[in-house]
Amino acid sequence: MTTMAPTCALPAATETVPQAELIARATAAREALGDRLVILGHHYQKHEVIRFADITGDSFLLARRGAEATGADLVVFLGVYFMAEAADILSQPHQRVVLPDLGAGCHLAECADIFTVNDAWQQVTDQFPDRTIVPLTYMNSGADLKAFVGRNGGAVCTSGNAERAFRWARQQGDMVFFFPDEHLGRNTACRLGLAPDAPVVWDPRRADLGGIAPDALAASDIILWKGFCNVHTGFTVRQIEEARATYPGVTVIVHPECPRPVVEAADEDGSTEDIIRRLDELPTGSAVAIGTDWNLVDRLRINHPDKTVFCLKEDLCPCVTMNRITLPRLTWVLESLAAGEVPNVVTVDDDMAADARLALDRMLAL
Ligand code: 13P
Ligand code: SF4
Repeated sequence: MTTMAPTCALPAATETVPQAELIARATAAREALGDRLVILGHHYQKHEVIRFADITGDSFLLARRGAEATGADLVVFLGVYFMAEAADILSQPHQRVVLPDLGAGCHLAECADIFTVNDAWQQVTDQFPDRTIVPLTYMNSGADLKAFVGRNGGAVCTSGNAERAFRWARQQGDMVFFFPDEHLGRNTACRLGLAPDAPVVWDPRRADLGGIAPDALAASDIILWKGFCNVHTGFTVRQIEEARATYPGVTVIVHPECPRPVVEAADEDGSTEDIIRRLDELPTGSAVAIGTDWNLVDRLRINHPDKTVFCLKEDLCPCVTMNRITLPRLTWVLESLAAGEVPNVVTVDDDMAADARLALDRMLAL
């Protein structure tokens, strides 16, 4: 089981302290901690906290870089829970991973709980006793699901390497069962040359083979879990049409957690790292519409004053859980650490971590 330390109450006064004072206090506490601490920041974090990150990146890059910072025994993760868990799984024994708000979950990761996954797995393996079924899970999943996948011969993937992971999994067996993002799964299947409707979709709310007809299940070799990100499913083809009408020649880049029709209507799709890299390559004067979380798009807009960078959905509701990591929370964490207390530690049990590590190592070996 994953152990979750209780979220310590944020001192009430911290919420009302002026921002300049919080920045000064957080800076002083950070300096006092020196090399004992490394702060990792995901691209979707608010500007007010990402400025404190020693390393920024996508979820997997950050987990690895934390473990490589062997001089630091404290890792503060500016991101969401599954990322902090992955950092703990990959961490050195002397390191502790701290998440400033333990309520910072991920809607997509929550779509696949281990009990429902176990039940689905049992049904599929009972249905096809002669087939080898290979489980794959997206990085956006709980440590318990990563461990399940590791125990059953599968691997983890990220949006940056999903295509490679799918190819690998298809070589290992007869069927791939992918958790928890239907859209990333379908977009990846299309990259492999399959039709969008070639994979079947397992609905965890249906008791009968996930609502899939037995014949259709037998005929398909990719099963996708019916999970989704509530931020990326907010992007639509209509928004792309409007962006093209307003900015002729605009380049539209979306994250592969977006539904298939949106990816098809866009010019490109890619992980957060890919989006950042692509924007760097585009010439001065380009107009670029981006379909991913608002904090990243806004930062890209600020960092590329020579281009017109905007979010595909103007009124996008940003990822609310990413935004739970605030400057008052970070200040509280840093001051607690400087005072010798270690709040909000994220720990994955050793057995679970060992199995999850198998799945992560298989991804690394791809
Ligand atoms: P990355 O894997 O690119 O870090 O993305 C994580 C995520 O949550 C996307 O919504
Ligand atoms: Fe999860 Fe979506 Fe937020 Fe990414 S943007 S952390 S997938 S809810």
